[in-house]
Amino acid sequence: MACLVAVGLLSVTGNDFVVAGLRGTDLYASYGLPVVRVLAEVAAVVCVGGLLLAAFLLPSPERVPIRIAGWAAGVWAVAALLSVPFTLADVYARPLGYVLEWDRLVELAFAVEPTRAWLLTALTAAVIMAATTRATSQPAARVLLGLALFGLVPVASSGHSSSGGDHDWATSSLLTHLVAAALWVGGLVAILAYRKGEHLTTAVTRFSALALWCWIALAASGVINALVRVKPPNLVTTSYGLLIVAKAAALVLLGVFGFFQRRHGVAEVVRTRTGRALLRLGAVEVLVMLVTIGLAAALARTPPPDHNELVPTVELKLGYVLNGPPDLGKLVTDWRFDLLLGTGAVVLAALAFRHSGFRLPLWLAGCAGILLATSSGIGRYAPAVFSLHVLGTLVLAVLSPVLLALGMPRDRRVLPHPVLATVLFTSSFHLVYFTGVFEWSLDQPIVRTGIHVWFLLTGWAFFCSAFAPEISLAARRLMVFTALAAQAVFGVACLLRDSAIGEPFHRSLRLPWIADLLGSQRLGGAIALGFGVVPLLVIGLVLLVTPQRAEERELTASR
Ligand code: HEM
Repeated sequence: MACLVAVGLLSVTGNDFVVAGLRGTDLYASYGLPVVRVLAEVAAVVCVGGLLLAAFLLPSPERVPIRIAGWAAGVWAVAALLSVPFTLADVYARPLGYVLEWDRLVELAFAVEPTRAWLLTALTAAVIMAATTRATSQPAARVLLGLALFGLVPVASSGHSSSGGDHDWATSSLLTHLVAAALWVGGLVAILAYRKGEHLTTAVTRFSALALWCWIALAASGVINALVRVKPPNLVTTSYGLLIVAKAAALVLLGVFGFFQRRHGVAEVVRTRTGRALLRLGAVEVLVMLVTIGLAAALARTPPPDHNELVPTVELKLGYVLNGPPDLGKLVTDWRFDLLLGTGAVVLAALAFRHSGFRLPLWLAGCAGILLATSSGIGRYAPAVFSLHVLGTLVLAVLSPVLLALGMPRDRRVLPHPVLATVLFTSSFHLVYFTGVFEWSLDQPIVRTGIHVWFLLTGWAFFCSAFAPEISLAARRLMVFTALAAQAVFGVACLLRDSAIGEPFHRSLRLPWIADLLGSQRLGGAIALGFGVVPLLVIGLVLLVTPQRAEERELTASR
């Protein structure tokens, strides 16, 4: 149904098909691409749904949803692989047969960003398929769910959203959109498939709470992505705009279904402990959702209006403009809200208001740090100015994690192993800045966000361990001074290095005020020593003067 809708709509919007002959592609390529794309998206949704059910909706692990997720992952991998030749035929405007010549296919497949994205998606899906044959526990299902959601990233970071103005917001909103759609549609499909299951009531109650948040996230991210692409007046005058209006109507309809499901369906499941009530509305809901995915695939293949507008180089590269060289005023006032991490910081702060006591201000300060580092003028200028990038990174990797670790009520169950936490924390800076990862991230907003999340999580894990009285004082002292040494090495390396990290990208921005890249790098090194080494030194000194507990002293003495 979704495939028919995608192909049907594209033949109506006509631009791809009419010009197929003229463009050199053939109908196989033009019809085939939306079909394999829908197949990949529907299989991804079913895979995510099965893992969501096994990982979070059910109270204990069950094999069936994991196995279904494995089969869906297999279909997802094949559809993603098939998307490669169809995408190449489209990108090079050639008949499908032309790109199917093996040597040419292999050479071109790794040369074009959208096909590299599909290859990475196929690899991720294949790994999930293999791993589901062994996965039996809920932690395993949770890791696989994380991997499946990661599998949506390549598609979100290629296609319409990866180029032009505001592409940082376009890629973040599309990623949020895909994750919300996969959890919502996949979760409902899994619940309906599980309607005779033992723990249906628990699963339905848990899913109902998630479904509302998915609906809100889907609407917000869809509207943001739409507004990046199309001006409101063009919503009713262009094919792209009309497809968006149709999707919005579908979302409203699905919202009404959801409201009645919540009011009647869920209540009846709880009362009768059977899924019959769910199926009545659920089947129609899933049909509307799949039709909407068909609409979405047609949308992704329809050129947005106004996409030919010329934008300055810096906007093409970053997604936004920079208003002259940075100064204190601009760092404080010239914000560029980071849709993922900025929103994340606000949500984390809002969740904390359930707690009170001395920890709350520390937690809120940690959240404020994330917001300032990613969304204030620091976040806006960071991709263009290395020293500001290092400042933002140290707030995310050291200052905010220290505050969050002190502000969070301690939970021994989530205490990371000190050795693992130290290795991840100390190696991250060197792995990111001296292996080419940083240069790769400069062109890819999604990779930049990924690195930010990585620094935040490894920093939080490290300081949770360093502040945990459950871990011996000696071990914690060793952790902190090891990290201090690693930070110092990173800072000094930036100070002494005679070539500028990320120079080709920074030069390509063609900003007249970007001159002394090495100077900015040395300032970055100094900031690393100030904002990285000093807090670690203070924590290390506190741990040094902290008296060992009696039992620990006895333990050390007995050794
Ligand atoms: C207010 C409602 C919605 C709006 C404004 C909206 C808008 C958008 C936009 C602008 C895109 C990017 C298309 C492109 O690449 O140019 C998109 C993609 C997508 N949307 Fe929505 N959407 C909405 C609701 C939904 C719903 C309800 C679903 C699913 C149930 C959905 C599923 C998707 C999918 C799967 C894609 C990716 C398509 C692809 O790249 O193949 N959307 N949406």
